[in-house]
Amino acid sequence: MGAHLDQWLSLTLRWAHVIVGVAWIGTSFYFNWLNTRLQPPEPPEPGVGGELWSVHGGGLYRVVKYTVAPANFPQTLHWFKWEAYTTWLTGIALLILLYWLGARVRLIDPEVARISVPVAIGISVATLSLAWLAYDLLCRSGLERRPVLLGAAFGVLVTALAFALTQAFSARAAYLHVGAALGTIMAANVWRVIIPAQRDMVSALTTGQEPDAARGKQAAMRSVHNNYFTLPVLFVMISGHYPVTYGHPWSWALLAGLFAAGVATRHWFNLRNQGRRNRWLLPAAGTALLALAVITAPRRTGAAVADDAAAQFARVRVIVAQRCAPCHSAAPTYPGFAAAPAGVMFDTPEQLRSRAPRIAERAVTTKTMPLGNLTGMTPEERQILGAWVRSGARVR
Ligand code: HEC
Repeated sequence: MGAHLDQWLSLTLRWAHVIVGVAWIGTSFYFNWLNTRLQPPEPPEPGVGGELWSVHGGGLYRVVKYTVAPANFPQTLHWFKWEAYTTWLTGIALLILLYWLGARVRLIDPEVARISVPVAIGISVATLSLAWLAYDLLCRSGLERRPVLLGAAFGVLVTALAFALTQAFSARAAYLHVGAALGTIMAANVWRVIIPAQRDMVSALTTGQEPDAARGKQAAMRSVHNNYFTLPVLFVMISGHYPVTYGHPWSWALLAGLFAAGVATRHWFNLRNQGRRNRWLLPAAGTALLALAVITAPRRTGAAVADDAAAQFARVRVIVAQRCAPCHSAAPTYPGFAAAPAGVMFDTPEQLRSRAPRIAERAVTTKTMPLGNLTGMTPEERQILGAWVRSGARVR
């Protein structure tokens, strides 16, 4: 029953996280686009810096951006902050449910590091808080005025974090924490810098004072950073479907490559919005993905175990029954698993045969299964599974 409720709690939180995350990133993309598409009003209007006409959902819209503020300050002013806060809150709730309460299953991998649950959770908390402190410090250092250098320094820092996490956590938890750290920085940018600066600006305007230009500039810069973080963070959030990435021995370096492709793609959109066409950014991002695909292509390892197919399959069945079926079965016996994870069952020979490529991917190439190697699979057993799949995955 507990495991069943866990599933529904996780479902609800994940769904909510995606819903508010879409709202946050959607408004962020919209305002970034809007800002670069504004044109001087026609005819010129005093106090108006730019205007934009658009059509959507059967109506024509005219948006104007004031250089300072309208003569009559509006009664209702819409703020955009709860999208960010709720995305972070639901994300943290999911992190707690899946990775803290399920630390033994998802956070800790004894083959990576033998750490206790409190230590693992401590590293998780430290990762998120120190990431924000380090980033904020970097922004407030002299680098603030040199955006390219700042970007490079931050890229090195994120790659170092990814590497460090792969030495402490399970492969998947390491990836997820890099994304959660970036997401925390984004939400903290909104909470600690962007919204306070806007609040100052609005209160200055309503009391007829001059808004603090430096704070405004700082908020604008953090907003640009958030813009570049979105695509890398989105990748991490879907990376769980791609063990070929997080399960690779060089997973942290792959992540750096994927992040670079995400940032380049975002930059291409930003340039395009400004009316500046760029020919090489998108092809470069595509080439990077292609290169990563080639680098991660599975290689034949170990000598193929050449004996008769029946004997080979008999061994495979025993291995899978011991190491996989405690979870992947119509009736799982592993504590905390109410149903076969991802609907994958290994109860019958036919189920084994039809899933052979996935078995090789998860248990041989990427070693992301058994989950956290909770069932203690040995390297020899992985070799036997690999040899069986390579020789045609025969079940009799
Ligand atoms: C402790 C429980 C547990 C054990 C043991 C385990 N798995 Fe999994 N498996 C999971 C969970 C949870 C998922 C879903 C999350 C994921 O995809 O990482 C999963 C997902 C999978 C998937 C992905 C299905 C898909 O289509 O994405 C495959 C394939 C898989 N396991 C194979 C194996 C193999 C092969 C073994 C044995 C070598 C094994 N698992 C052992 C828990 C387990």
